[in-house]
Amino acid sequence: YTLGLDLGTSSLKALIVGEDGKPVASASESLSVERPAFGWSEQNPESWIVACEAVLSRLKSEHPDALAKVAGIGLSGHMHGATLVGEDGRPLRPCILWNDTRSAKEAAELDDAEARAITGNIVFPGFTAPKLDWVRRHEPEIFDKVSVVLLPKDYLRLWLTGERVSEMSDAAGTAWLDTGGRDWSDRMLERTHLTRSQMPRLVEGTEVSGTLRGELAERFGLGRGVVVAGGAGDNAASACGVGVSEPGSGFLSLGTSGVLFTPAAGYDPAPDTAIHTFCHALPGLWHQMGVTLSAAGSIDWLSKLLKEAPGDLTGRLPQEISAPGREMFLPYLSGERTPHNDAEIRGVLTGLQSDTDRDALTRAVMEGVAFSMRDCLEAGAANARPTRLVAVGAGSRSPYWLSLLATVLDTQVVLPEAGDFGAALGAARLGLCAATGDDPATIMTMPPIARSFEPKAELRAEFGEAYRRYRDLYPALRALAS
Ligand code: XUL
Repeated sequence: YTLGLDLGTSSLKALIVGEDGKPVASASESLSVERPAFGWSEQNPESWIVACEAVLSRLKSEHPDALAKVAGIGLSGHMHGATLVGEDGRPLRPCILWNDTRSAKEAAELDDAEARAITGNIVFPGFTAPKLDWVRRHEPEIFDKVSVVLLPKDYLRLWLTGERVSEMSDAAGTAWLDTGGRDWSDRMLERTHLTRSQMPRLVEGTEVSGTLRGELAERFGLGRGVVVAGGAGDNAASACGVGVSEPGSGFLSLGTSGVLFTPAAGYDPAPDTAIHTFCHALPGLWHQMGVTLSAAGSIDWLSKLLKEAPGDLTGRLPQEISAPGREMFLPYLSGERTPHNDAEIRGVLTGLQSDTDRDALTRAVMEGVAFSMRDCLEAGAANARPTRLVAVGAGSRSPYWLSLLATVLDTQVVLPEAGDFGAALGAARLGLCAATGDDPATIMTMPPIARSFEPKAELRAEFGEAYRRYRDLYPALRALAS
């Protein structure tokens, strides 16, 4: 058996997978995000440990036999977060998350031809390196105490194993990695006044990074010598969960953020398009991805506003999608990455009329996110266009949204049976690779598909027209903002 631990932005999920690769037990615990100032987004790293203890305790009381059979653990987590750890192994301040845009100025300063050539990416404000530059300027007493900078899931690993280790897929989102060479870049570290000694050791996602501490094994009823795999950033982990490793395949994640992910056989960066080129969690592979910062996060926002659960809001829409509404939403609640790379921009609702109701707003939000995902698709290389997209993440529970996305992206969208477990399953699979040494290709298979959504040809023209209107709104909004 293997255990996948996925540290998401809004919850930590644990999933135990049996010998046949099928989920046998799971538990999850919610997490909160603090927003102490405009554009800030933080999480207390100790809350991840507390959540991890809670899910392991629950698994221990509900599925002790499954837990006792675990031979390998894989980790997945939200990417880019700066977890600053002191000499004593404890966090020095709250983790600055992926959707925190306070370091826009530092990112713009770091983002030059040299950085793009080394890392293959724009230095986005959400990435880790500019955050450290912000801390150096604004909290120098903390910066001076940084013993190691860890990505969120790697802080969990420190607790699980005592080891300071990261892996390629998550490290690629720091702006400190030589992404083609799969190694830290001394030059990029130097540019943020850090050295390699403050970075975790790097392994591939499928490799062993350490073993579970005896004390934890005993406390939660696991065996001795359980290996912990490198694991992956949540997006590469989701790709492993849905078997997306071949060029031509791809997935669409509707989590707090929205991601369009396509694997690549070689390293072929295109930073100017604002597409991310990162290492895959599998050795010798890379991937590209477009990111929109608020996908299901936009529905969560509306749900709070209208005091109705996200699933109820989306569930009330009809089975079949219809032509786009007059209302239009730009989902820039936390700024935007692909294609605009604009940390300051914020969302907008237009076209409101006296009979605009809940359903119309829900539709507008879902359409806005779909158009934002189309921006990600258009930013990618035309010859790398996926022929079908596997949908994962909380938002994939809405058939309406998936049908809408198939039409807006003009691509088949498929929903796997175990749609909930993308990243946790991928993490468990990476744990299996590390525990057995088996060929990842035999492990990273595509799950059975529950439903398939085809583009609605009869609506193509109307959604194409609405997308053009959506595109025109950004420059208008930018002009207002500046
Ligand atoms: C990817 C990104 C997000 C986080 C959230 O670049 O910022 O998808 O990984 O989970």
